[in-house]
Amino acid sequence: MQIVMIGAGYVGLTTGACLAQMGHSVVCVDIDAKRVADLRKAIVPIFEPGLDELIESGLANGRLDFTADVRAATAEADMVFLAVGTPSAPNGEINLSYIEAAARQVAPALKPGATVVIKSTVVAGTAQKVREIIAEEREALDFSVASNPEFLREGSAIGDFMEPDRIVVGTDDQRTARRMKEVYAPLIAKGAPFISTSTVNAELIKYAANAFLALKIGFINDVADLCEKVEGDVSAVSRGIGLDRRIGGAFLEAGPGFGGSCFPKDTRAFAAIGRKNGAPQTLIETLIERNEMRKRRLAKKIVEQLRHTAGRGGRVAVLGVAFKANTDDAREAAALTIVPLLREAGLTVSVHDPRAKDPSLRGVAWSDCPYRACKGADAVVVLTEWEEYRKLDLARLIKEMKGNLLFDYRNLFDREKVLASGFRHVAIGRAPAEAQRKPVKRIAHPRWSDSAAVAMP
Ligand code: NAD
Ligand code: UGA
Repeated sequence: MQIVMIGAGYVGLTTGACLAQMGHSVVCVDIDAKRVADLRKAIVPIFEPGLDELIESGLANGRLDFTADVRAATAEADMVFLAVGTPSAPNGEINLSYIEAAARQVAPALKPGATVVIKSTVVAGTAQKVREIIAEEREALDFSVASNPEFLREGSAIGDFMEPDRIVVGTDDQRTARRMKEVYAPLIAKGAPFISTSTVNAELIKYAANAFLALKIGFINDVADLCEKVEGDVSAVSRGIGLDRRIGGAFLEAGPGFGGSCFPKDTRAFAAIGRKNGAPQTLIETLIERNEMRKRRLAKKIVEQLRHTAGRGGRVAVLGVAFKANTDDAREAAALTIVPLLREAGLTVSVHDPRAKDPSLRGVAWSDCPYRACKGADAVVVLTEWEEYRKLDLARLIKEMKGNLLFDYRNLFDREKVLASGFRHVAIGRAPAEAQRKPVKRIAHPRWSDSAAVAMP
């Protein structure tokens, strides 16, 4: 099938390269002319594991191409996917202007019988809006609109796309549903469930999925706070509840609050559309507020602990700017809230990330090596779960530092090893190391006498 992908970002590039790999002929269009010129030379503007190879292979076998000429590309296409950004508007609603502009741009060139497929994350009713925009431009044209939300995660985008939990397609006619099935035939043949529904349902499924996953994270983060107070360990609680198949173990890792280009903006949009339609999404409203508060509270904890140990004006090394590991994306990452608050509190901050660089972080010293970032620091704060950080030589790290505070906000390290290296360990969802180390006396418990232990007062 001849496919055009409008927007060559994380989703457009992954989808385009994967569809080409599946045997379709794909042209990706972007308004960023430099991005297009680079991509034609297989220079990929984002870091996504496996994407470079897929793009190189698509270019080499001729099934993948890039252009800035939207009209020429669209004129040939059976399917025109829209994968442009849908950022937050200031009131939390979604800004649909990129989608609307893309629909207007493709409309004059659509060939009869073409389908416009909305891949971007959009609120209920957007497919209808896109249909109206195109119909305004091309009154007599036979065309259809489908909603095909994407569920890939950055960092594992290709695996997520090629082995999806499900493919969701919203259409308002059977012919379009059949054509969408043809697009995904190789994945369906491998067992991917294909959900065919209305466009509105497909739009709602995407938001409800992201909102629910974000709720799981918000929930475990609240549980983590409780664990810290009552000397529990959130990792054990998370495993203990996650093994219940009704709950599931995924997205139960406590951390510094969710970030990224999707959960924050999509929860805001979901809450906004709820308010607008008189169906308030109260859980999500609370989640958004608590997630933002969490980042600020974790920053405050660093500032307060440093005041105790280093007085005013300590030095902090922050490891991790990306919103999660295996991506260079720092959109709404915890670092973007926490680092400025550390700076405002008068702390000197050095920063390291293996991939992400964010120019909005001002007044910090960027370092190309985690050990160098920690030189002379009173505290080190880990904000992204990069494998490289998990493998850090803690004995070497502490030698570089002036102080010994480790804020392990991704629970990367084994507490015993951290303490053995001389660090003080502030983890998520665990009481401070001092409390954990209180001597315990074993007591005979009426029912569980072999294992019960209590902390001494
Ligand atoms: P992105 O910002 O990385 O990429 C968008 C691209 O579209 C940019 O390269 C931009 O130049 C281009 N563009 C904008 N207007 C254009 C136009 N009129 N013609 C051609 N190109 C145009 O965005 P993204 O992260 O790929 O997200 C795209 C959509 O997919 C969003 O709605 C997002 O919510 C959704 N989504 C993202 C992810 C993810 O992991 N990033 C996952 C699932 C869904
Ligand atoms: C998320 C969804 O997982 C995808 O299914 C969806 O397609 C995408 O949003 C989207 O709509 O754009 P992504 O943002 O790439 O994908 O990354 P996630 O792995 O979901 O992580 C999001 C945030 O939650 C990160 O900050 C991550 O560190 C955090 N997180 C995730 C946790 O704190 N704990 C967890 O257990 C899981």
